[in-house]
Amino acid sequence: MEPIIKVDNIKKYFSFTKGIIKKRTFHLRAVDGVSFDVYPGETLGLVGESGSGKTTIARLILGLTRPTKNTVYFGGKDIFKVKGRELANIRRRMGMVFQDPAASFNPRSTIYDSIKRPLLINGYKNSKIKKLVKDATEKVALGSELLSRYPHQLSGGQQQRASIARALILNPEVIVLDEPTSALDVSVQAQVLDLLLDLQASFNLTYVFISHNLSVVRYISDRIGVMYLGKLMEVATVDEIYSNPKHPYTAGLLSSAPVFSPRERHRKKIILAGDPPSLINPPAGCRLEPRCPYSNDRCRQELPKLQEISPGHMVACHRAEEIGGFKLPEAVGHI
Ligand SMILES: Nc1ncnc2c1ncn2[C@@H]1O[C@H](COP(=O)(O)OP(=O)(O)OP(=O)(O)O)[C@@H](O)[C@H]1O
Ligand SMILES: [Mg+2]
Repeated sequence: MEPIIKVDNIKKYFSFTKGIIKKRTFHLRAVDGVSFDVYPGETLGLVGESGSGKTTIARLILGLTRPTKNTVYFGGKDIFKVKGRELANIRRRMGMVFQDPAASFNPRSTIYDSIKRPLLINGYKNSKIKKLVKDATEKVALGSELLSRYPHQLSGGQQQRASIARALILNPEVIVLDEPTSALDVSVQAQVLDLLLDLQASFNLTYVFISHNLSVVRYISDRIGVMYLGKLMEVATVDEIYSNPKHPYTAGLLSSAPVFSPRERHRKKIILAGDPPSLINPPAGCRLEPRCPYSNDRCRQELPKLQEISPGHMVACHRAEEIGGFKLPEAVGHI
């Protein structure tokens, strides 16, 4: 199968100057050479700590920010090269849902007006708009009485249903979701995740699902990419990531996740000591090297490439094969 999205060694550096007399330019490497494919109908989860570059990747995929180097392909087309009608077509095929529903709606527009906006932009006639908004709100089980309200008059869960309705309105193939449930209570979070799963099954949607919450990505994803400081450290199926992690960073992330089973409380933790290094002057070798209990000279000097270690399981660690994996308890990351 051909991927619908191909992220090809993409880099996004943010530049800024410092100093009053002697100005110097710094480059913050928010995304520093990331490659992955997304296949039609799957959910690719992206996890990583705050600042690892997840939102920047979401914005790159959606074409909201230009890469510093390299590109993203959608259906085989370079999204930063296409123009005019072709670009409009690609835009229509991608929807987005962001973390903070309150901020993603105009506070002075009714929910109805917000949901219909993509239709207006795409030149739909008023006669069609009403029906399409009604269909979309039904799909997300948002009561039609809520359409005349303003965003602040909706609960967090209702707001997020409305943003999903808006994302669906042009019948996209792919939806990029950036922390879509992070602002919600746990029970509402589960309802929204189930709604997303239902919609995916009904409309064969492809999701790129970003979250720092390991339980949430485990619940919703088919495959998971683990990010650290602008790099992808590991990509594999959900089962592989949670039962057979190969990167010390993934193992560290999983073992620092809260464990809900009392039997597992005394298990050995993989501790990643120290703070993450700076994105302005990252280590020459592996990004994790200063914190990794397994690092050696090679890790200090040579940047590890993301390589397939077993079918479909990619890892960027010089020592992955030698270490041979980590034993983690079953309970990690279950909702
Ligand atoms: N417009 C910008 N200008 C300058 N730096 C930015 C900009 N956007 C993001 N960054 C920086 O890039 C890095 C990655 O940010 P990003 O928002 O992609 O991380 P994230 O993984 O989504 O984090 P979080 O989990 O907190 O949402 C951070 O160090 C951030 O400060
Ligand atoms: Mg983010």
